[in-house]
Amino acid sequence: MERVKTMSDTVSFTLDGVDVDAKPGETIWQVAQRLGTEIPHLCYSPAPDYRPDGNCRACMVEIEGERVLAASCIRKPAAGMKVRTASERARASRRMVFELLVADQPEFAAPPRIEHRRSRPAGPTAVHERRRIPAAALPCLVRA
Ligand code: FES
Repeated sequence: MERVKTMSDTVSFTLDGVDVDAKPGETIWQVAQRLGTEIPHLCYSPAPDYRPDGNCRACMVEIEGERVLAASCIRKPAAGMKVRTASERARASRRMVFELLVADQPEFAAPPRIEHRRSRPAGPTAVHERRRIPAAALPCLVRA
């Protein structure tokens, strides 16, 4: 006979040093979002009935005691787990994922040659600038 889940089935863990509770079935990403902690995501959407697959690795977080980073969109918290969403290791991993994805994008067609463009300073140097992707669209690249 299947046991009915209740609120007592919440899982207590630590998210960035704060004790939090996950509702039954929630992933680390969902708990973080519910509590206002932003974790980048690409292949997962919080839309209803959207199944996370954990493919893009844009949502990696560090879990104390674990050798490898975890995809927060598919990982469910365990009691006593200590999750760090903004550790240097997690941020560096996410940054690399976004940089590789941006570097793998097709070239845009050359913009029309307009006279006033000649007076602009030398071209952009960051990959996302060369691809004309606004830095705001890549929050992990924006430096505080
Ligand atoms: S959002 Fe793609 S792996 Fe988590």
